[in-house]
Amino acid sequence: MEMNQPIGRTPLDDRPDGLVGRPLDRVDGPLKVTGRAPYAYEVRELADPAYGFIVPATVSAGTIRAIDADAARRAPGVILVMTHENVPEQGEKKEQVWPQLAGTQVRFRGQPVAFVVAETFEQARAAAMLVAVTYDRSKPKGLLRENLAAAYEPKPVNSPPDSALGDFDAAFAAAPVRIDAEYTTPVQIHAQMEPHATIAAWDGDRVTLHTANQMLNRGQKSLAAVLKLPPENVRLVSRYIGGGFGSKLQPLPEATLAALAARVVRRPVKVALTRQQEFSVGTHRTDTIQRIRLGADRDGRLQAIAHESWSDTAEGDGFFETSANVTRSLYAAANRVTRHRLVNLNVPLASAMRAPGEAVGQLAFECAMDELAERLKLDPIELRVRNEPAEDPEKKVPFSVRQLVPCMREGARLFGWDGRAAPGTRREGDWLVGMGMSAAARLNPLMASSAKVRLGPDGVLTVRMAMTDIGTGTYTILTQIAAEMLGLPPNRVRVELGDTDLPYASGSGGSFGAGSAGSALYVACDNLRKALIRAGDLNPDGAVFRDGAVTSGNRTESLANLAGRTGMEEAGEIKPGEMKAKFSQYSYGAHFAEVGVDAETGEIRLRRMLGVFTGGRILNAKTARSQAIGGMTFGVGAALMEEAVTDPRHSYYVNHDLAEYHVPVHADVPAIDAVFLPELDDKANPLKSKGLGELGICGAGAALANAVYNATGIRIRDYPLTLDKVL
Ligand code: MOS
Repeated sequence: MEMNQPIGRTPLDDRPDGLVGRPLDRVDGPLKVTGRAPYAYEVRELADPAYGFIVPATVSAGTIRAIDADAARRAPGVILVMTHENVPEQGEKKEQVWPQLAGTQVRFRGQPVAFVVAETFEQARAAAMLVAVTYDRSKPKGLLRENLAAAYEPKPVNSPPDSALGDFDAAFAAAPVRIDAEYTTPVQIHAQMEPHATIAAWDGDRVTLHTANQMLNRGQKSLAAVLKLPPENVRLVSRYIGGGFGSKLQPLPEATLAALAARVVRRPVKVALTRQQEFSVGTHRTDTIQRIRLGADRDGRLQAIAHESWSDTAEGDGFFETSANVTRSLYAAANRVTRHRLVNLNVPLASAMRAPGEAVGQLAFECAMDELAERLKLDPIELRVRNEPAEDPEKKVPFSVRQLVPCMREGARLFGWDGRAAPGTRREGDWLVGMGMSAAARLNPLMASSAKVRLGPDGVLTVRMAMTDIGTGTYTILTQIAAEMLGLPPNRVRVELGDTDLPYASGSGGSFGAGSAGSALYVACDNLRKALIRAGDLNPDGAVFRDGAVTSGNRTESLANLAGRTGMEEAGEIKPGEMKAKFSQYSYGAHFAEVGVDAETGEIRLRRMLGVFTGGRILNAKTARSQAIGGMTFGVGAALMEEAVTDPRHSYYVNHDLAEYHVPVHADVPAIDAVFLPELDDKANPLKSKGLGELGICGAGAALANAVYNATGIRIRDYPLTLDKVL
């Protein structure tokens, strides 16, 4: 059944002043701020755990010649030292989940080569230092730029790596105004607050992992493949998660190692990555090299667009950064090329990080648009307006709803865009001041999800699904949807998430969580409404659910009564349907940034920033704004500071902690605000909502880069924009 077909009025439309959309405080807020929300490492359900510690490879390429673990095995409290010599048999790599300690080859620095289990964390860590590994080293391949000759066309992920329309070469050659520029973005680290952590425990042939994971049902399948178990024998529990940003889309080595070791030692094993290990055992966003060519006529109408992107990942992996995908839909032009190429290096595993593809793609592309506007002496907003496509320029289907132009216009008005001066002409004391803008667009996917709702005889509604809340507010918006649909106060709704024993759900990622899980819940609640109306033999036309009762005509029945002595349970499911192919679905926005650049030192300070966004129905004004300004803050980091620096001799990130890998702090993010324009997208899902989690980062950094150009007249094409590049 096509569940996201266009729909007419819904119960949510009938109550525009209802609970959905309101800035409800997080329902899990009190648990979190009082330290009572158990994150994976803190779960106390499993008695008497032993502690694991990972020994990562200290070379980036080569083979293990020998491991001497005698001293570690004799160390106080040590229960097990696991290496490739004694690791239990494992299955094949699935998705990005690899068998661990599976052989002597070292592909990257940080690859686990041993795992120590001891009575205490300190004993495990101390013994890990005693594991002596000798390697036969080979010369690592560490830099993308030096290995472009090895670039290949990767396997498609959701769409082919390349696209072409018309005759780019001819149109570009003939265009009177041309931009041909290369941009680079560095390795970025997710830097989520909660490190990866797992407690694994076996019960017969079934293993339970309390683990920090964004997509439990997917993780369950991958781990089952590696552990050679049927998926139902692998249970993932992840009730509270301290940030993910993509780093927890898949189980990391600590989960596999904990599960393998717990079976051997016949005890629960708990393990967390250290912050330093997050940079190597964990994953990262790849660096990219992006070449962008734009050919326009003298009025600024694009004739030719080419966006080519090179990225890299670990040996043996196929993950590539889809930087140019968003370019396929953003602006009109008859002749277009996009291309992605991948290089395998001796670097840790690259993975998705907040808005994979779009985030770095728009860092580059939205700068190129600014360069073109400057060349044409055209306002950057006007340039974008002139290239607004009537339909998706590559898929040749209509947009579901596209309010990019209203976002830019409203942002310009609110930000005071007309006060923008010519490049390098506005000075306040030591500071050169400039403004920049960027468009934002992020794909809106829908993922299969299901939910169960149960109305108890006490009138309390329980929601159950294997969804996750990675800090984004999922518990809260699901509470709002269920409460609104059944006409219950939010404190009569209990939401249970984070357990693969619950009905399967999308999990959190790719900006699909709220729309997918929320829609499954919506369908389940709608089924329950219908069942209640049937139970009361009520007329469904004009039935209103409010204050714990349903009213139809002159009859009002309490839901608790209708649910009966045993209560009432219904299920709901949502699957991507034909709307996905029939319409081009994105969330849109526009960023505006004002920066000051110190004329003497080149120091760049953000002064103020505004994002104007559309994402269909807003489910919670407060959590939506938090997602938006959080994404924008990521953009500030990408523009000004975030960079994992590779030492090419050792193929290793030298700044591997949060003291040296800089993310924005409060002082770096002054006046910042986000505004949402009214929108309902009835092609997206029954909620008419679209994803917001990643929209805020898309284009945000480019607005700062364009502001730096406006302040100084200096165009920097290599992110981050540090002061040495200004001088
Ligand atoms: Mo996201 S990078 O899919 O968590």
